[in-house]
Amino acid sequence: MAEAGPATPSIEVGDLLSRADAGEPLLLLDVRNDEEFDAWRFEGRRLIETLHIPYFDFIEDAPGCVDRLPRNREIVVLCAQGGSSAMVVDTLREAGVGARNVAGGMVAYGEYLQPVRVPVDAAEAVSWEIWQVNRRGKGCLSYVVRSGREAIVVDPSRDVQWYEGFVRRLGARIVQVLDTHVHADHLSGGPALAIRSGAPYFVKAGEGFELRQPVEPLADGQELRLGGEAGVTVQVRIMATPGHTPGSSSYLVGRRHLLTGDTLFVKSVGRPDLGGHVVEWGRALFRTLRERLAKLPEDTVVLPAHYAGPDEIGPDAVVAAPLAVLRRTVPELQIADEEVFVAAMRAALKPPPAAYAEIIRANLGLVEVEGDKATEWELGKNQCAARTMPAVS
Ligand SMILES: [Fe+2]
Repeated sequence: MAEAGPATPSIEVGDLLSRADAGEPLLLLDVRNDEEFDAWRFEGRRLIETLHIPYFDFIEDAPGCVDRLPRNREIVVLCAQGGSSAMVVDTLREAGVGARNVAGGMVAYGEYLQPVRVPVDAAEAVSWEIWQVNRRGKGCLSYVVRSGREAIVVDPSRDVQWYEGFVRRLGARIVQVLDTHVHADHLSGGPALAIRSGAPYFVKAGEGFELRQPVEPLADGQELRLGGEAGVTVQVRIMATPGHTPGSSSYLVGRRHLLTGDTLFVKSVGRPDLGGHVVEWGRALFRTLRERLAKLPEDTVVLPAHYAGPDEIGPDAVVAAPLAVLRRTVPELQIADEEVFVAAMRAALKPPPAAYAEIIRANLGLVEVEGDKATEWELGKNQCAARTMPAVS
């Protein structure tokens, strides 16, 4: 095996995603071990042809592995953090096979943030804009709403400097940071972003959660006005939508863009079992869906905090759907009886994500975590949906 050197050609995760999304005929060579490969894959919006040959196979029999690769394809090599894949790239190039290393590997993929502008009506676009920030590797979605020189950030990931830079480039400053709930699948950047920007932070933890993060409370129905300049404003209304967690909140931006957190996704609903109270939280979720969300106008655009796979990303690159469509297609929204709904939630029970208890404690402010430990806790895709049956397409 060759030693990886600084001259190893590489490709950044963002470039690789753009090319994969465009349907370029890349061959992805994944050299992680079987367990890592089975648990979490690199996914583009179009299917990427993927070959799995573990790194240890290259160590044992490099020529045999090289022989399995085509000579006329653009090959990109992927591992957990970009180290062993770089060595494989050098080995391939020495053997005359063109290849590039995916810089930072799956860790970089898991942290990469892609901002996509959400379409709004022309009249609305005059005074505000909303960006969906897609954490592609994990399927986590956060949001930046800007009006005039003011911005609200909702459900930020822990790379807070990214949000600071993004809002600065929009010509605005952060005036409010919101989380839709105490997340269990990723570490929130909310408290740190609020402290650094001097903006108030809000998350409603709900009964049974001990929250030590400093929070400036907002009540159900309360409205935040963003913008400040004449004619440049948008209102953000706080809606209590308990169920996925007892304190889950949704945020209605303008007249019809609803940030639903993990209450309602575009193909399913949020799982109510992560606190060990699936019956109680399941009942709350049923009432939220039937009594609160069902009463919103048909053209309400649902913008969730997570998605399960690239098939949920629309042609405009946004993960969103009108409420009218979700009423027809999300199976859990068709259930009219509370007992049937709760039974479906119980039947859909699945093990919690690996480090979920630690992540919740960190997001409550009870423990501090950073660096490698934070990276390790966040590895893998989110598992926030309660999918009782496939959505109707
Ligand atoms: Fe969640």
